[in-house]
Parts: sequence; C-alpha cells; structure tokens
Amino acid sequence: MLDLKSLVRTIPDYPKKGILFRDITTLIEDPAGFRESVDRLAGLHRDLGITHVAGIEARGFIFGAGVAIALGVGFIPVRKKGKLPGETIGQNYALEYGVDTIEIHADVIGAGDKVLLVDDLIATGGTAVAAVSLLRRTGAEVSHSGFVIDLFDLGGADKLRATGVKVEALIP
Ligand code: PRP
Ligand code: ADE
Repeated sequence: MLDLKSLVRTIPDYPKKGILFRDITTLIEDPAGFRESVDRLAGLHRDLGITHVAGIEARGFIFGAGVAIALGVGFIPVRKKGKLPGETIGQNYALEYGVDTIEIHADVIGAGDKVLLVDDLIATGGTAVAAVSLLRRTGAEVSHSGFVIDLFDLGGADKLRATGVKVEALIP
C-alpha cells in the first residue's frame, strides 16, 4: 500500500490567509498514487448495490469518474450553479472559504437508486452535506461516501455521519 499522504502537497495561505490547502494535483500526477486512490475507494464500496457514483465539481470529478468506471456504474456530476443544460435542482452551502450553490439534473436519479458520493476532500462537510441533501431530494438512497482526504480537525466527517451516511477516507 502506498503512502498516499506523502503524495499530497500542502500549500499555506491558499486561497486565503490561514487556509492550509491540501493540493491533490501532486497525487494524481503520480500514476501509481492516482490508480491506488481510485482502486481503494472503489474496493471499499463493492457489493453494496451502488447504482451511481456522484462526484462534486471539480476535484470530485477526477476521483468519482474513476470510481464509477471501477464499479461499473454511471457517474453523476454534481455541478456548481449554472453549468447544467437541463432542468436542475440546487442547494446552497457554506465553504471553509466562501459560499456556493451545487446542482444536479432533476431527472437523473430517483427512488430505487443507491448513490455513492465521492469527493477529493472533506473539510467542514458543508459541500458533502449539501450534496447528500440534494441527491436525497430525488428519492434516491445515499448512505455511503468516499473521500481521499478527511481534514479531521474541521469535523466535516462527523457532520456527514450525523445525516446517516457512512464516511470512508483514505487519508484520515
Ligand atoms: C473543495 C473540495 C470539496 C470541498 C470541501 O472544493 O474539493 O468539494 O471544498 O470543503 P467543505 O467540506 O468545507 O465543504 P471547492 O469548493 O474548493 O471546489 P473545486 O473542487 O472546484 O476546487
Ligand atoms: N477544500 C476545503 N478546504 C480545503 C483545504 N484546506 N484544502 C483543499 N481543499 C479544500
């Protein structure tokens, strides 16, 4: 097993003073590290009846798409406001460094679907909790999530668990 943590670069004061930015570009530049990240996230979620992987724009697309292919299921892009061409449903949320809105196509999933949420990182949990609320509004079940990094001190994973979602992270 690779030491994935050593492949993630930390950049202080980006995008704002006081933020320690965990930069996954160095991890995905490493072919073995990238492959292992995707394989491990997929391996943790096999045989659960997952029907779709939802990845959050933008960094969640990188890992989520790979996990969807590895699990043999479709991929749902959870996009920032105004990017999807069809009818959408949206959810506002607060970030560690700002506010934003995420959207999905209104008709993409529904009752009977079982969605795995994937993102590169969970910090305050605002984004992931908003994504779960949004996905659940369709009637789909969302009870599993996978992240490369959990910024444990910020408490996001606990916030997400409190919504009834199991949280897996490769770098706790
Ligand atoms: C980052 C990260 C997560 C989110 C985590 O995305 O990829 O989606 O922040 O923060 P939270 O747990 O405090 O909500 P960002 O919104 O910076 O967008 P990006 O992927 O486009 O860089
Ligand atoms: N998203 C939210 N907080 C972050 C952090 N500290 N590093 C990278 N991405 C983030």
